[in-house]
Parts: sequence; structure tokens; C-alpha cells
Amino acid sequence: MSSIDSVLKENRLFPPSDDFRTKANVSGLEGYNALCDKANSDYEGFWAELARELVSWKKPFTKTLNDSNAPSYKWFEDGELNVSYNCLDRHLEARGNKVAIIFEADDGAVTKVTYRDLYQRVCQFANGLKGLGVTKGDRVVIYMPHGIEAIVAMQATARIGAIHSVVFGGFSAGALRDRISDAQAKIVITANESVRGGKAVPLKSVTDEALGLGGCESIEKVIVYPRTLNKCEHWNEERNIWWSALIKGQPTDCEPEWVDAEHPLFILYTSGSTGKPKGIQHSTGGYLLGTQVTMKWVFDYKENDVFWCTADVGWITGHSYVTYGPLGIGATQVVFEGVPTYPDAGRFWSMIEKHGVTTFYTAPTAIRSLIKLGGDLPKKYDLSSLRLLGTVGEPINPEAWIWYHEVVGGGRCPIVDTWWQTETGANMIAPLPGAVATKPGSCTLPIPGIIADIVDEAGAPVEPGKGGFLVIKKPWPAMVRTIWNDPERFKKTYFPEEFNGKLYLAGDSAHFDENGYIWIMGRIDDVLNVSGHRLGTMEIESALVANPLVAESAVVGKPHEIKGESVVAFVVLKGNRPEGEEAKKIAKELREWVAHEIGKIAQPDEIRFGDNLPKTRSGKIMRRLLRDIAKGQEITQDVSTLENPAILEQLRHSAL
Ligand code: PRX
Repeated sequence: MSSIDSVLKENRLFPPSDDFRTKANVSGLEGYNALCDKANSDYEGFWAELARELVSWKKPFTKTLNDSNAPSYKWFEDGELNVSYNCLDRHLEARGNKVAIIFEADDGAVTKVTYRDLYQRVCQFANGLKGLGVTKGDRVVIYMPHGIEAIVAMQATARIGAIHSVVFGGFSAGALRDRISDAQAKIVITANESVRGGKAVPLKSVTDEALGLGGCESIEKVIVYPRTLNKCEHWNEERNIWWSALIKGQPTDCEPEWVDAEHPLFILYTSGSTGKPKGIQHSTGGYLLGTQVTMKWVFDYKENDVFWCTADVGWITGHSYVTYGPLGIGATQVVFEGVPTYPDAGRFWSMIEKHGVTTFYTAPTAIRSLIKLGGDLPKKYDLSSLRLLGTVGEPINPEAWIWYHEVVGGGRCPIVDTWWQTETGANMIAPLPGAVATKPGSCTLPIPGIIADIVDEAGAPVEPGKGGFLVIKKPWPAMVRTIWNDPERFKKTYFPEEFNGKLYLAGDSAHFDENGYIWIMGRIDDVLNVSGHRLGTMEIESALVANPLVAESAVVGKPHEIKGESVVAFVVLKGNRPEGEEAKKIAKELREWVAHEIGKIAQPDEIRFGDNLPKTRSGKIMRRLLRDIAKGQEITQDVSTLENPAILEQLRHSAL
């Protein structure tokens, strides 16, 4: 723990303007404190009141929290509802003709979908799924391009009480197979291709490959959306069905399946500290509440906002702030298929201008790359519609924050730096923009009702300025319910015995500053954060050692100017250590191998070959040394326990 020390000293304070504060849903620190006091004096009553205000129930709940089987907490367990009803049906009367989605395709084509249109599309597709025999509790894997159809597929699955597991379209056949197999899914919904940055990316052929790898025998049908005019290579008449054939003749109404609040809404796989991704299972009622309350408080949602979260539905941010948060609250939102740099680095700014975006939510990595490609570009566009900016996924460096604030936000928009995780379901620590003054680089204070702390190994709170483990001390409605198929791992990972099974361990280190603001310092486990995406070092290591050439490997992260972190792989081959051109050739092969095993996002940026890895006498790889070598730093720590100290010199000079 002593190595975790506060690294940032940033004291500039940005309070909201009087105008923003006066109009905000939570106004001033008094407003924030009043909510926190309410949560402190009657925790369950606080959440129950919000659940009644923000969620429409078919059958009202009478029990708020059941903690008798902790850490398997249950919220609102005797209540019944449907998430798709909450996102669509309940808006029809007042907002049927309101635009729900402004979709901008990669090539710039714009499609607008009203709440009524979306309702009808979702109902038709839900009826189509039912026609295939999909029923409550069945798992549906969605491997689609980011766009209207992916949202329809998710909403339709939720509508009939089935459980979706969205797999990001950049994952490889192997990763897709693992997720299908673990979830024992019945259906895959995919597209022939996706289009990003002017290039087509295959999806259907990757799905075929995944199904061919074995372990996917549970799959009965593959539904294919024709995103482009290109034909599918293979077409299995038995297994494949076109999207249009599925919905043909289906009614545009579909009674929602009313489910218990604890019924699983979705599984989303994320990386942890073993080679096997975890199927994070979320609930229906508590999860929906988390998205709604944060739309209201953190994004300060107003009826005529145009909300834009740039995340892909393949990640939790796309679930909570594209598919469920904005639709649940009845917002108009922009959904963008492409990438921020195509056709040029002005794409985001031109879209903000074109669609009159008021609330813009993106990742620090995107901000950093856009600064690099055109720090002055935003000035060419009229960004005056913006009133609130947000960031998510990784710490933002103060320079990028200031640029975002000045150049994009014109100095007038608060920035909500939102800390949360796949497991937390919704924003947890973030400034309420009309209440909490921001500091560049800090996610500031927990939202009301979230009881966060920073503790040492013994679970005791640490003093300001000292690093420690970020924990959440009370269960909250949107929290992960379990790891699919692995309840033991759920307990061990998130509610470890070291803290008596009582504290939720986020896996991040953090520190408080003298004002009680929280600063996230990074992961404490073997999870990397590359461009805001979570990657397990063990996953990449397992992929590498699955290559016939590789005997052993260790993967570590190293700071990267744009991506936040980059992947460095130390590799020992079965044969001799390669040098020169041969080493370059094998490194290239291994990079392609990892892209094929997991996906391009996991490709090592740097590969270093060695005769061995630095190990203790008991055979443990000394990763901290590898991190120092990757960073090019002097090794100051004691290496006397090292079995083979000479290896350090070799690895130091082996960067490729
Ligand atoms: O390390 C934290 C970092 O991202 C991790 C969660 O990753 P994931 O489950 O993929 O969800 C990302 C989107 C919610 C966290 O454990 N992280 C997320 N948001 C922030 C952050 N680190 C610093 N500041 C943030 N705002």
C-alpha cells in the first residue's frame, strides 16, 4: 500500500454558474447535502421514494432492501415491472411524437425515430423473438453494430423477459464463443457487417466462426440484420434468419412480460484478474432506478435536452446511458455509429452543432486524441447548444479537462467526471453539476445514497492524501447481483473476507483530498484500462500462451499519452529467443494472434522477448519489476529474492 501515494495536486475549483445552479435539478450544496442527509437518516426510505418517483411499477413493491442473504442483496423484490415498458410505453401518451433517437450513420446519413416508431419496432421484434420460442429467462447474445437495431434488439429482449448479453462488435470469434457458451444462449442477433470509419467490419462471418469453435450448441437461431449491401459468405437455411423475415407480419404491439424487480435484465462480460471474463449480472428494478436517478441528478436532465453519450452499446456505458437511461427518462438522444476521427477530427463537433446537442458524454481517451489531431477544430463549429459535459471510463488528466472545459464547453459548461463500473450499473461518484464545484481530474463526491470510503488493508479509513482501496459501504439498487455461473467468485472478488464480506471492493485505489474529494489513482488488480476499455492481463497472457510458439508470458500496462495505458507483453518462446528481423516477424504474428483470440483492442503495443521472466525462488513472476522495465524506469526495489537477476538487463533492452 505504501507504494500507492497521491500523485496529483490540482487545486483549481470550478463552481457552477449562478444560472446553472438555479435551474439545476439538484441546486447548490444545500440541495446536495439535503439529499445526503435524507439517505443517511433513512437509507431504505430514501431509495424507496426515488423508486416510486422514477420507475413505473406494474405491481408496487412493499419491501425495499432484503439483506438477509448478503452479499446477495435484493431490492424491491416483491415489485413487478418491465424495463421496456418504462422506456417506451409510458412515454407514448405525452411523448409519442417526440424524437427518441437521432441516429447518424458512419457516412453521415441521419435517421430520426420517434418514441412511437421505436415502440412499434421493439414490439414487432419482440413478437418475432417470441415466434422463435424465446421466453422469459432465455439468454440472447447481441453482436451488432452500434445503432438503432442494437437498441431495438436489447429493448425487445427485455420486453419479453429474456436476458441479453451484448458482445462488443470488436471482439473476436473466440471471445464471442466464450460468452455464448458461458451464458448458454439460445439466439445470436448480429448483422452482416458493421461500418466504422468508412470500413466494413465483418460480424456474421465471425459469428459463424464462433459457432464453429464448439461450445455453442445451445444456439438455435442467428438473426441477421443487413447493415450493408454485401452478401453473407455462408447462409445456413436452418439456423439463419434475416431481420426482415423475423418481423414480417408481426403486430406492432406486444404486451410486456411483467417480471420481478430482481429478474436479471442482462449479463455483460467484463475483465477481471483471471483469464476468464466475468458475466456481470444486473437486475431489472434496481438497475433501471440507477440509470434514472443519475440521468436526473448527474446529467441534470431537462425535457428539451439533446443527450449524446458516445459509448457503444457493447459496453456498460452504452447500456446505461444509451439504451436504458435516456429512453427511460424520455430523452431525445443522438446515437452515432462511427468513429470520432472520420471523416476528420471535427466529427463530434460538427454533430454537436448539427443536432443541437446539450449534454455530451465521452471518454478522456477520445478527448486526448482529438486534442492531438486538432486542438483548434472545435472553434470552427457553433457549440453554443452545449450546457453540460461528461467524462467516463478512466481518470482525466487536468490538461485535457481544461481543454474540454474551455474549447468545447466555452468555459460555461460544468464537467461531470463520472466514476463507476460495469458492476455498479450507474454513476457512483460524480459531481452533481449544479451543486458540487469541480476540480480537474477528480470525480469529486459520491452521489447521494452512495456511501463510498477509502480504506487500508485492515478496512480502516485512510486520512486525506493517503492512497487506499476504494470501497462502497452499503448496498445500492443498481449494483451487480452476481457473476453468472460463479456466485463464489462474486463473493470473493467484491465482498472479500479481508473486509468481513461487508464492503464492496471496487478494485481501484484512490485518495481523498483535504476537501473530501475523491481522486481515482488506478486499478489494484491485474486489470488494464486501455482507451477506457477494461482488459485483464491474464486474458492476454492466456491468449499468448495458447500460441504454439509461446512458452510463457507476462503482460503489464504502461502509461500512454492518448490511450491512458498501453499493453506490454513479455514473452518467452519455446525455442531460442529471437533477434533482429525474426523477432519482429514473430512479434507481428503474436499481435495478430491476440487480435484473433480476443480482439484488436487487446493487441500488445510492445512485445519483449526474453530467455526467461524475472521470478522469485518460489517461481512467482515479479510483475512490479516488469512494470518498471516497461516504463523504462530504474529498478530501485530489492531484487535479492530474484532467482535470475541477469534477466532484467536482457528484458530492458528487448523492446520491439
Ligand atoms: O478503474 C476505474 C475506471 O474504469 C473501471 C471500470 O471499468 P468498466 O467496468 O469497463 O466501466 C467503465 C465505464 C463505467 C473502474 O474500476 N474508471 C471508470 N470511470 C472512471 C474511472 N477511473 C477514473 N475516473 C473515472 N471517471
